[in-house]
Amino acid sequence: GRADIGRAEGPGPGERQRPLRSAQWYETEGLRSFSHRARTRQLGFLPEEHLGKPVIAILNTWSDINPCHQHLRERAEAVKRGVWQAGGFPLEFPVATLSETFQKPTPMLYRNLLAMETEEVLRSYPVDGAVLMGGCDKTTPALLMGAASVDVPAVFVPAGPMLRGHWRGETLGSGTDMWKYWDEKRAGRIGDRELAELECGLARSPGTCMTMGTASTMASAAEVLGVTMPGAAAIPAVDSGHSRMAAAAGIRAVELVRADLPLSRFLTREAYQDAIATVLALGGSTNAVIHLVAMAGRSHIPLSLDDFDRIARDVPVLADIRPGGRFLMEDFHYAGGLPGLLTRLAEAGLLHLERPTVAHATLREQLDGAGVHDVEVIRALDNPVAEQGGLAVLRGNLAPDGAVIKHISAEPHLHRHTGPAVVFDDYRTMQATINDPGLGITADSVLVLRGSGPLGGPGMPEYGMLPIPDHLLKQGVSDMVRLSDARMSGTSYGACVLHIAPESHIGGPLALVENGDPITLDVAARTLHLHVDDAELARRRAAWQPPPRRYGRGYGALYEEHITQADTGCDFAFLSREGDVPEPHAG
Ligand code: FES
Ligand code: MG
Repeated sequence: GRADIGRAEGPGPGERQRPLRSAQWYETEGLRSFSHRARTRQLGFLPEEHLGKPVIAILNTWSDINPCHQHLRERAEAVKRGVWQAGGFPLEFPVATLSETFQKPTPMLYRNLLAMETEEVLRSYPVDGAVLMGGCDKTTPALLMGAASVDVPAVFVPAGPMLRGHWRGETLGSGTDMWKYWDEKRAGRIGDRELAELECGLARSPGTCMTMGTASTMASAAEVLGVTMPGAAAIPAVDSGHSRMAAAAGIRAVELVRADLPLSRFLTREAYQDAIATVLALGGSTNAVIHLVAMAGRSHIPLSLDDFDRIARDVPVLADIRPGGRFLMEDFHYAGGLPGLLTRLAEAGLLHLERPTVAHATLREQLDGAGVHDVEVIRALDNPVAEQGGLAVLRGNLAPDGAVIKHISAEPHLHRHTGPAVVFDDYRTMQATINDPGLGITADSVLVLRGSGPLGGPGMPEYGMLPIPDHLLKQGVSDMVRLSDARMSGTSYGACVLHIAPESHIGGPLALVENGDPITLDVAARTLHLHVDDAELARRRAAWQPPPRRYGRGYGALYEEHITQADTGCDFAFLSREGDVPEPHAG
């Protein structure tokens, strides 16, 4: 059943009993239906091309500004082809693009906006099922959050990773090598000519970041959740297999409507537990913690940081992919892709194999015939990249509601470390002053960045990998303990404690840290402790002033009023809560 070998198979248990939702628009007696039919003639379609057929909305996050989704404009044609073949009626809807590279202050500010748009587009138009096209970081959770809230039959089409980067005989990885060579430039080891060549070599095809960043992590999560075609997550964006996968997704969307199988049939707590295990086995991005909690929330499935920490203790890191490992997504695809990795997890008893996916009656059936073709890229259980360590959840007086660290990407000597705090109130101040020798930063210092959480950032930017100060970099210091209420790019690395909750902006303990305060990070004990007694912290709290609100109006004001903290997924409270939404009266 691999989509990448050209089949769109899949059973659909159950036969649809109720009428199509789109019939409300097209097939009632009154004036409205007449008008909708007339306007569909205006679109150039014959009655026999669409009446009585499932309408499949293709939500496309293509944009000229989004290099990761460049190919989705034409790829939507492959989806349409599949929808037509299966007897459906495809209609493409352009929805907001969240371009990780270009959108400021951070696309995380807009994840919930795309989720809202997705939900309302699917609800307000004559839609029976959907194909969701995205992949660049936040687009995946956003599309799935919105679609889960409407609970339509839907298939997700990941944009797929770009080709490997290349420069002077070296293979380059997204993000990771950008930071690396920028540091080389700062240290004076490469010049302008090299930099200009690197600009051309870092990203050389359409597609998402090809390291195990947030895009690859979330596409893989979508695949194991069972809402993509099998193998979809790792198919390179420019591989012909990507077009075949897109066509297969179009076919499946129609079949899911006919079988009346909405997303809630697949998005279960078991599926989310498997998604956590998979993300950890991939050495995936810490951003997955926030997104999976938010996505599960839309299906009213309880998922907490403790689920991540508990599962992380049992799951070995098996994918040897950068930034933690050696290879890239293209190698991972050739090595068997996610189906290959999932056979390993199944072997270890770490998956729920009897649950359904959009393509197969059970995950077990979906993995039939899958395998690993390169044991360097996808390791055997007895030869893991790491026994565990994909993620640890830390708590303590500095993070009462939790914080996370991806400790496989930290130098081991820092897993237990005590050092004096050097505090930066916000990112700009940090940028402007971190190289100032007057701050007295040493390799033992604990760098603390605050004002970078969901409200403080705003939008919880990926500021969590604070730069090593120039003078230490030149001495060869390559990692330090860094704490923040920010997120970190999935392509970043280092001993960075992230997502500290509650954030400093709302008076979390991070707001009370002062320069020189000793802080202890202890990954094995899962603790983060500020060595300042309670009486002194109470004194500091009494003197603390909340920062003024930033947005007087607009989307930013809506965001400020409704955003939740990192440990609950940074959704808007009014979107994640239970509650009825009336169907629009269409006929
Ligand atoms: Fe789009 Fe990395 S910038 S996936
Ligand atoms: Mg990223």
